[in-house]
Amino acid sequence: MSLTKIAVMGFGVVGSGTVELFYKNKDLIEKRCGHEMDIKYILDLRDFPDSPFADKLTKNFDDILNDDEVKVVCELMGGKTFAYDYTKRLLEKGKSVVTSNKELVAAYGDELIATAKANGCNYFFEASVGGGIPIIRPLHQCLAGNKVEKIAGILNGTTNFILTKMIYDQLSFDDALKMAQELGYAERDPSADVDGFDPCRKLCILGSLAFGKHIYPEYIHCSGIRTISLDDVEYAANAGYNIKLIGLIEDTGDGLVATVCPRLVPVSNPLASVNDVNNAILVTCDALGDALFIGKGAGKFPTASAVVGDIVDAVKHQNADICSLTWAPSKDNSFIKHYKQDKVRVYVRIQANNADDLKNYITSLFGFVDFIPRKYRSADELAFITPDIVETEIDKSLALLAEKATVKKKIRLL
Ligand code: HSE
Repeated sequence: MSLTKIAVMGFGVVGSGTVELFYKNKDLIEKRCGHEMDIKYILDLRDFPDSPFADKLTKNFDDILNDDEVKVVCELMGGKTFAYDYTKRLLEKGKSVVTSNKELVAAYGDELIATAKANGCNYFFEASVGGGIPIIRPLHQCLAGNKVEKIAGILNGTTNFILTKMIYDQLSFDDALKMAQELGYAERDPSADVDGFDPCRKLCILGSLAFGKHIYPEYIHCSGIRTISLDDVEYAANAGYNIKLIGLIEDTGDGLVATVCPRLVPVSNPLASVNDVNNAILVTCDALGDALFIGKGAGKFPTASAVVGDIVDAVKHQNADICSLTWAPSKDNSFIKHYKQDKVRVYVRIQANNADDLKNYITSLFGFVDFIPRKYRSADELAFITPDIVETEIDKSLALLAEKATVKKKIRLL
């Protein structure tokens, strides 16, 4: 067996998890790969004097770039600035790069894949979506015979944990967020998770791979879960739904519709019962039909699991790129249909004096609506679900309703 040298850039949670997992299962991994491997460098600006891997630590990127023995590099630093520059230079030198960096892939995936191909190496990012869940490789390899019609996913563990606590323990959003922060799921600045930017980047990657053109974050309508209240959670439950933050991309026949937003998910849909920090991705395609991928979407060893899987693939495919892992650049978003031109059912909660008096008016605006019951509902509150209507039309009717009531909430259904 030949010996391949690897480098790891970033010795944080995922980086240290990758190194630990690699050495824990080294014999097994090498047997499966058919190559001996070793980690030669770990790049990090911090000092780790007590680490058992201290002899591998370097602060100098050039040690990795200029070492011809190093064939595969894991970029586990995150962010865009240094990660982009380092990744590009490594690929240009013919070194394969493996990453969990969703921000970088969502912004530069097409360019970095093309750079890898031009230099006879690979850019792999299984760990960038769904943590340890195998989804990138199934999408471009196992499902290569299918046309993908739709992808709907719970792509963020932190927000799924918060919503689970709201649904099952009746914690308010603020209390559930605090708990998520105490448990180390949410950052001190939780915006990337709770405002939907993190799942938006993941949806970009899945959508680009499934539909063949680079989908940038700015092409996707993105809203988070900050405004979801326990009132909404209770009304949704009474109507037979759980509220989930859903990344959804669908080929409508006249364009792709792509959104990340909270949705009422029918309890009969498998995504409705995916709880805590788990992620799940439901792929609908023409030959297979539905396939559900579920598991731990974040965390040290789940994410390291995907990184190490990519290392094995990169070592196996030295000097040959994986042709199917690719998508084309996109110059504009003309292949994306505005999400409000799509038909959707929405949940609406309003406040008005004697709200029940508005029922006939609401029916005249929307057609047949489902009014949702609630125990001890106050007289100034009403919630309902509209039929399937183009969303711009729903908004026009809501504007008329707003002349007689305060529209407190509008949430789309899945
Ligand atoms: N903050 C992310 C999550 C980590 O909660 O899912 C994985 O991207």
